[in-house]
Order: sequence, then structure tokens, then C-alpha cells
Amino acid sequence: LSVDASQASARKIPKTMFGISFEEINHAGTGGLWAELVSNRGFEAGGESIPSNIYPWSLLGDESLLIVSTDRSSCFERNKIALRMEILCDSEGPNICPAEGVGIYNPGYWGMNIEQGKAYRVLLYVRSLASINISVSLTGSNGLETLATSNIVSDDASSWTKIEVLLEAIGSDPSSRLQLTTTRKGVIWFDQVSAMPLDTFKGHGFRNDLFQMLADLRPGFIRFPGGSFVEGVWLRNSFRWKATVGPWEERPGHFNDVWHYWTDDSLGLFEFLQLAEDLGAFPIWVFNDGISNNDQIETSKILPLVQEILDGIEFARGDPNSTWGYIRASMGHPEPYDLRYVAVGNQNCGKKNYRGNYLKFYSAIKSAYPDIKVISNCDGSSRPLDHPADFYDYHVYGDANSVFSLSHNFDHTARNGPKAFVSEYAVTGNNAGKGNLLAALAQAGLLIGLERNSDVVEMASNAPLFVNANDRRFNPDAIVFDSSQVYGTPSYWMQHFFKESNGATLFNSTLGANSAASLTASAILWKYPDDVTYYLRIKVVNFGSNMVNLKITIDNLDSNSIQANGSSQTILKSSSLMDENSFTEPNKVIPIKSPLKAAGKYMAVSLSPHSFTSFDL
Ligand code: AHR
Repeated sequence: LSVDASQASARKIPKTMFGISFEEINHAGTGGLWAELVSNRGFEAGGESIPSNIYPWSLLGDESLLIVSTDRSSCFERNKIALRMEILCDSEGPNICPAEGVGIYNPGYWGMNIEQGKAYRVLLYVRSLASINISVSLTGSNGLETLATSNIVSDDASSWTKIEVLLEAIGSDPSSRLQLTTTRKGVIWFDQVSAMPLDTFKGHGFRNDLFQMLADLRPGFIRFPGGSFVEGVWLRNSFRWKATVGPWEERPGHFNDVWHYWTDDSLGLFEFLQLAEDLGAFPIWVFNDGISNNDQIETSKILPLVQEILDGIEFARGDPNSTWGYIRASMGHPEPYDLRYVAVGNQNCGKKNYRGNYLKFYSAIKSAYPDIKVISNCDGSSRPLDHPADFYDYHVYGDANSVFSLSHNFDHTARNGPKAFVSEYAVTGNNAGKGNLLAALAQAGLLIGLERNSDVVEMASNAPLFVNANDRRFNPDAIVFDSSQVYGTPSYWMQHFFKESNGATLFNSTLGANSAASLTASAILWKYPDDVTYYLRIKVVNFGSNMVNLKITIDNLDSNSIQANGSSQTILKSSSLMDENSFTEPNKVIPIKSPLKAAGKYMAVSLSPHSFTSFDL
């Protein structure tokens, strides 16, 4: 491998090159990154096309002692459904309630993770014609062990009353639940019952451990909220940003009909922008372009939706005195968010109305916000687009061999014209398991190819990002979690090899003509933002099953600038190509770093079969 470290051959890699693509899939946000513990807090689950239901809320105690139903009596205009609970027993008299009371409980998203010593804020809305005395408790999974409890007592809750209770846990259980119980006869209505840990990232509502997994990747951008989630199976169930902003209690929520679960839209446009800011990543908002899987808005009728998107951009970056900038400011962020990229739809290029709708969005956005970069769904890698765009979206899914070979996909792309945004890439199919080493190596090969082509590919992200192990709708994924645990798949760890590439300098590197086709490599020069020291990183994927002895020559580099002492090599490999990580073995396939004794302008190194190695000098 010859590396030319001269500035003449060097090229800057975009700051945005490697990022993340967040989709509300696999309960990634709802029951995932968003730390809300209560599932279906507003009793609205089901949405417009399915009758409302209270799932997963369940009754507690003898079912002959209470009648639970829903009605449309909520004080919130956009989510009218409330839970009505009629208690037939009493604290005295002939029909005495059990001492532990009767009521309802919510098991969260496959259990709430309650941790000893931590505080949880329960907020709920309640109404009753009589006085109330309700126990609010966090209990173990069987409801017997009380981890935290408090009583709500009020002589007058005849109008909807907001109650806030702070609970401190005296025990831990990752499968806990929230219980609302009483021993008093009467009728009680509940709505918008929320339980959040106080300890979220900067108090912004993001689950700390999952946020940290993202932050550790140092993503250059974050694409959101999908994926197919943006489209919906039907337009009426697509993500509409105006329904996702303002006070959480007032958000209607919607049925994610692509991935089959209810989302309360706590993770709305504001929170996605905040997440991007907290990660130091550029936000890339993918908006619905009037097209779902099954229905489309005619281009002649698209203007109201175009206006909705212009309003959304104003919400993100408008002056606090503007109509929508004011709403953002009132939510706690007077400064504009740094929104510079929007994508018009997801995977819609082949749809009848795409080009017509796209052009309406494009011209309206460019005329109001000339600096915003617009991303088209149509592929411009092999021939020019027939419409204006700053970027074109490109998705890569396939088996390991095809993904690896796509590392050359952009070698012959015309160097002028819109840039590629490889916003979704993954190895899929049986050989990928639930995210194994094979998939990670093939993806590493692809990313090296993208890095080498970073004059025409400016952004790339793996998809899907997250999976709640209890609802695996798409496989494999980068980060696996449940209520209390998290681990990265080999693909997640593979992405760590690229986090220094954003904004780095790419050197020309060439594999000798006799090198195996299963090798691919790149070389970059990078430094930490506030540092003066530069580091050279050479990455090599050996996708073959043989050990490879590789000679590396670095030309045009002053030998004195290489410090043998601090140099290292980091390897991602395992005893079997099919090896995966798991909750029990989270570190089975992770990068292992060791000193690089051979560091110098001429190096003879050995590459293990099926491995990804970075040499850091
Ligand atoms: O990444 C999972 C899905 O794959 C996305 O929702 C969609 O864009 C693609 O088909």
C-alpha cells in the first residue's frame, strides 16, 4: 500500500462525512432514546383508523370492583380521549376495597427501569366529582415490591387538575411499573400520565446511556425522523411536524403505521433539533413530500404542504419574533437552530407525483432560504438528475459481498453536479445475523470507498440506528437496547474507525497491482479540534479469509514527524465471522487497540483474515 502524504495529492473530507440516521423504527425513540417511561400516556393509542384502546395499561385488583373505559372528556383539544375509572368499592361500608386499593398500572415499554436513589417526576391530569386520595407508586414487575410511592389528596378536583409528584426510588428493578390506586368509591378520570427520570441528558429528555452511544460516534450530522416513518403507509399517519411541537400534553401523537406502534410525538421537531445541537451535529430534516406508501397528494394541491414545510423551517431557524420562531422560543430555545439541510421525502423518486411535488418544494425553499441545501430522492450517481438539487439521497442495502463491492460505486460518478448523501446503508439478509462481524466488515469496505470518493459523496449514515430488543422490526441495527441495557453491534464499533474522518485530509493511497481484491484501504491526516498535533490514520479492510502480509510505504512525509511511541493499531476481528455482541457478551466483537511497534515510513504488517485494522501514527 503506497500512501502519498504530500499536500499535492491531498483533499479535504467534508465535516459532515459520517453521521447518523435516526428513524422512529424498532421503538428507537418512543420507548428508547426519549426517556418517557409510560407507554400510551394519553390513552390515545390506536389513532384515527383503529378504535382507541388503553393498551398496555391494565387493571389492578379485583375486576368486579372497578369499571375502566375511555371517553372524549379530556381538557386537551387535540387529544380528547381520557381514561374513566369507576371504583365500586370503598374504604368503609359493605363493599370494602382491598387494603392495597384498586386501580390501573402501566408496565412502560417492556418494563420501566427504576434505579435506587434516582428521582422520577410523575405528571398527570386528574378529574373527579368527589374528593380524591390516589396512591402513585413505582413498583417491581409483579406489583408487590414498592420502589417509591406518594399520595395525591385533593378535596376538589372537579375540573381537570395537573398533579406533579417527585418519587425517589428506594430499590431497583429494570421491569418496574407505575401504579395508580385508590380505596375510595367514585369516578376518576385520568389523562396524560407521564413518568420521566429527572436524570436525562442536560434535562433535555434523552436517555443518558443511549445519548452517550450517539455522542461517542461524534456524528457530523443527524438525519431524522426517518426513513419510511416520514412517509407513512397512509398520509394521514405520516409525521406532521406541527402536531409534534408545543407542550407535550397537547400533542395528539400518531400511529406509526409503517412500524406498527403508537408514538406520542414527545420526540418532535423541536427535540430532534435539540438532539442535533446537543450532539454537535448538523440536523437534516426529512419531511413528507405529500407521498406515502399508498396515497399521494397531486402536485396541483401540494401548496398547503409546501407552506407547512416553510413554516417548519421558520420554526427551526426563524427570528423569535416570527410566527413559528416564537413557538420555538417559547419552548425554551430563542436562538435559531442551525438547520442547513432538508430532504424532500424518502425513497419516493419512482412515485408518480415526486418530481412535480419536489419542484414545488425546491423552488419555495430556495426562494425563502437560498442557503438551505435541498436533497432529492433520485439517484444522480450514474447519470445527471433531471431536476435541480444540492444532494441526492442514495440507499445501499444488500448482502455482504454486494455491499463490500459497492465501495467502488462512486469511482466513476461525474465529479460535477449534486453530491451524494448515502443516508442509509446496511448489510441485510440471513448472513447478517442480528448484526455480525461479516456485516461490519462489508460496511467498512463500503465506507472506505465512500471516504475515497468524498469529493462526490459528502454524507453517509448506517440504518437503522437503534433497536429496542423487544420490538425488532428491522434487522440488523447498530445499537441494541432494552429498558436498562445497551450494546453496540460490530457495525456500531466499525463506525468508530471513521469518526476522525470528518473534516480530515484524505491522502492518495494505492494498493499494489498484486494485492488481493478483498483488500481496501484509505489514509487520512486528522487532528483534534483544539490540538496542534496531526495524526496519520491508515485503515485497511481484509475481507478475505487469508492472512495478508502488507507492506506500507508512506511517501512525502518527514520521518521525524512519526512518533513510534504513541503509534498504535486497532483491530476489529473475532474468532468467527458470524460473531455478534449481545447483552450477555456486549464486548465480544469490539475494536482492540495495541502499540504499533513497526511505526515508520516503511512498515511490514500482517492483516488477520476477516479483519478491519487502523494504523495510527
Ligand atoms: O432503514 C430501514 C428502512 O429501510 C427505512 O425506513 C427505509 O427508508 C428503508 O427502506
